[in-house]
Amino acid sequence: MPTFPVTSSNLKPVGIKLKSVGMYVPDKILTNEDLEKMVDTSDEWITERTGIKRRHIVDDPNVSTSDLAAWAAENALKRVGEDPANIDLVLVGTATPDYMFPATACITQAKIGANNAFAFDLEAGCSSFIYALSVATGYLKSGMIRKALVIGADTLSRVTNWKDRSTCILFGDGAGAFLLEADEENTQLGPIAFDIGSDGNYAELITLPAGGAKLPASEDTVKNDLHYLQMRGREVFRLAVTTIEASLERLLGKAGLKIEDISVFIFHQANLRIIDAAIRRFGIPKEKAYVNIQEYGNTSSASIPIAFYEVLDKGLAKPGDKVLMMAFGAGFTWGGVIWQL
Ligand code: COA
Repeated sequence: MPTFPVTSSNLKPVGIKLKSVGMYVPDKILTNEDLEKMVDTSDEWITERTGIKRRHIVDDPNVSTSDLAAWAAENALKRVGEDPANIDLVLVGTATPDYMFPATACITQAKIGANNAFAFDLEAGCSSFIYALSVATGYLKSGMIRKALVIGADTLSRVTNWKDRSTCILFGDGAGAFLLEADEENTQLGPIAFDIGSDGNYAELITLPAGGAKLPASEDTVKNDLHYLQMRGREVFRLAVTTIEASLERLLGKAGLKIEDISVFIFHQANLRIIDAAIRRFGIPKEKAYVNIQEYGNTSSASIPIAFYEVLDKGLAKPGDKVLMMAFGAGFTWGGVIWQL
């Protein structure tokens, strides 16, 4: 079991090294053409309005969020030969936990054998991963822990109403994981600045009404499709564009950096038009904003770590670079961070 030797003497500056990244997406692909057979839509409409062409969907009824989380985490651990027994914290950011309780992170912990860790979930809609990074940063910087697995994992296909064309075209399943380690030598590594926020006045824009304490499962909730995600898309779109603008401005200000200091921008992959609006507004060179929405759709908490994995895999960012990540989602929540590699 971890111990927490926090005293004023060990609160010295530490950097946070991104030791490894991992990802997992299911093999099964659902294309826009497949969706044309399920609802009244077209490849042209979906491509123009969202940029999405395909998404990866869990088709095995025995697989759920903890499996995706565990496979992404194992991927990250294996790439650097890290022993799961060395992990102090398993933190899963998710909006689609396996159960109300126990936490998906505890199930994931058991699956990967991180037997010396403590584990819990964090729910902040599609911003969950960035929120989780900020929480793990607090633990690592305080000296309470040395190694953390921060995972973003979602199986939105399980809460998608496949008869609702305004939402079912948007989402996919997946998971991404960061293996983080406290680094006393290189204190500049890790987050330079966070901008995290929420506004509960917009809570009703994206909801999953039933199955919680407020509206428990009943025949009525099932009959009325209340166990499916509901979204006021146009309003979310507008709020996302203005929120990203304001948050990006604050984030760069807090870090004392300019657009040209950032090597790669990783925006939440929810809608290509939302990403394009930010690019235009800030004059971000198109090649610096990583986009993979065409392949995965919106994978919620997994969207940013999956994109980060691909950025590193393709050699688009290297040690010494600064990467900006920014998400938004149900709550309404947002979260941005500039990360020094
Ligand atoms: N295929 C064809 N037509 C569709 C459609 C689909 N899949 N979904 C909606 N439409 C129709 C609507 O019924 C509407 O028809 P009408 O004008 O006859 O009423 C028309 O297209 C326009 O609908 P609207 O909702 O205004 O479209 P939009 O341009 O706002 O695009 C979204 C809809 C959902 C793609 C867009 O609003 C969006 O991406 N919002 C943000 C969602 C998001 O990011 N959510 C996750 C947050 S983490």
